[in-house]
Amino acid sequence: MADSVRTMSLVGFMQASNVTVYSGAWRHPDADPGFLTAGYYQRIGQVLEQGCFDLVFFDDRLAMPGIYGDSVAETVRTGARTVKLDLSVTLGVIAAATRHLGLGATYSTTYYPPFHVARTFATLDHLSAGRAAWNVVTSVNDAEAQNFGVDVHVAHDERYDRADEFLEATFGLWDTWEDGAIIGDKASGTFADPAKVHELNYEGKHYRTRGPLTVPRCPQGRPVIIQAGSSGRGRQFASRWADLVFTNDHTHALALAHYQDQKAQVAALGRDPDAVKVLPLVYVVAAATEAEAAAEEHRLLEELVDPMASLVLLGEVTNLDFSRFGLDEPIPDDFLDTASGIRGFLDGVRAHLPGRALTLRDIAAHRATLRSSPRFVGTGPQIAEEMEHWLASGACDGFVIAATHLPGTFEQVVRYVTPELQRRGLLRDRYEGATLRENLGLARP
Ligand SMILES: Cc1cc2nc3c(=O)[nH]c(=O)nc-3n(C[C@H](O)[C@H](O)[C@H](O)COP(=O)(O)O)c2cc1C
Repeated sequence: MADSVRTMSLVGFMQASNVTVYSGAWRHPDADPGFLTAGYYQRIGQVLEQGCFDLVFFDDRLAMPGIYGDSVAETVRTGARTVKLDLSVTLGVIAAATRHLGLGATYSTTYYPPFHVARTFATLDHLSAGRAAWNVVTSVNDAEAQNFGVDVHVAHDERYDRADEFLEATFGLWDTWEDGAIIGDKASGTFADPAKVHELNYEGKHYRTRGPLTVPRCPQGRPVIIQAGSSGRGRQFASRWADLVFTNDHTHALALAHYQDQKAQVAALGRDPDAVKVLPLVYVVAAATEAEAAAEEHRLLEELVDPMASLVLLGEVTNLDFSRFGLDEPIPDDFLDTASGIRGFLDGVRAHLPGRALTLRDIAAHRATLRSSPRFVGTGPQIAEEMEHWLASGACDGFVIAATHLPGTFEQVVRYVTPELQRRGLLRDRYEGATLRENLGLARP
């Protein structure tokens, strides 16, 4: 039983796609194939809201994986994140079917302009009555670059330099309307107070935008900002801008160290560390009995993932073409070290298999499979116990729960785990705030 009274934040991690982060998702016998229908997303949103989750969050990438063998053929054949719908539209349909659930979407600072992103999220925040969240990413690979007419993706640290400017510009645009600017006086014909709506005239090295935004100041002041950078430069960026930091560390020990480092960096910038929540990505496989959960884990580990899908997705995050290596060949470290995409991922795999050269099979087994993140498997009480341990030991402020199939993962979490967390006082049993910020306990800027 808990001696901690701290409650946790829960995020339902999903994709507007034929799969989840688990590449075998579409092949799961219980997977709903309706990922091209509004009802599918609305139903999942309602399940998460029933389970008192803070938000549903969608990741994104602006290309079909096409690095492996310089082709999309295996991506299309295996369904390895082949489909990705537009997220602002997807969140709009979920907003209409839910009342409290936060709505998070990923938008890239490298391929969208600040004005467009500021406008999209301010609109979503209004139309959802204060539930919008933006996951700021800088994108990872050349396939994304090529969809936007650029040959090669911008280098890692430079992407973050540009993103700093991007956020200065978007934050500026969100503040171009003061609170209370709209008067709406029909008799005098004064719609809004010109003294309360400002041009921005932002001039950076990479971005310029005049403003004002065409959307009035939004209910949350500005949308909740999510960031998931894990490199040194990424953590620095997150410390400056994020309300929520998503992490992906393979063990409790790594998560603990990451949590402490991230909070220390936030404090060093003069921000309140409690106002930035650090939430690790985990898989949850919940069932009525331990034996059922173990059987499901076995199926997810051994039966549904096509190794080719893993290799395709590995190319996507590392921006490296692995098609020239055999599955059981050791991969030279100097090749891996050229990864311009997700460096932290490779470090994670190395931490898992210390002391020997990694083969392609080793690496593939940790990409888009159940091994990609820590996993909590068992009955509701067993999983709640594990979650409580992570929270109480200072490894997190809550969790980003990845789905192995939809809506099944979330239905099982809500059925078996939510009540147990609530019984222990670790999770709210109703929404108290009017906006996502309020439910997260974050101040309105
Ligand atoms: C939960 C989670 C979700 C993420 N979602 C996305 C995403 O939607 N698109 C993307 O390009 N990167 C995504 N990333 C990757 C991060 O934004 C980041 O690029 C990665 O963790 C590597 O860190 P670095 O950029 O500092 O090297 C995600 C990471 C995590 C842990």
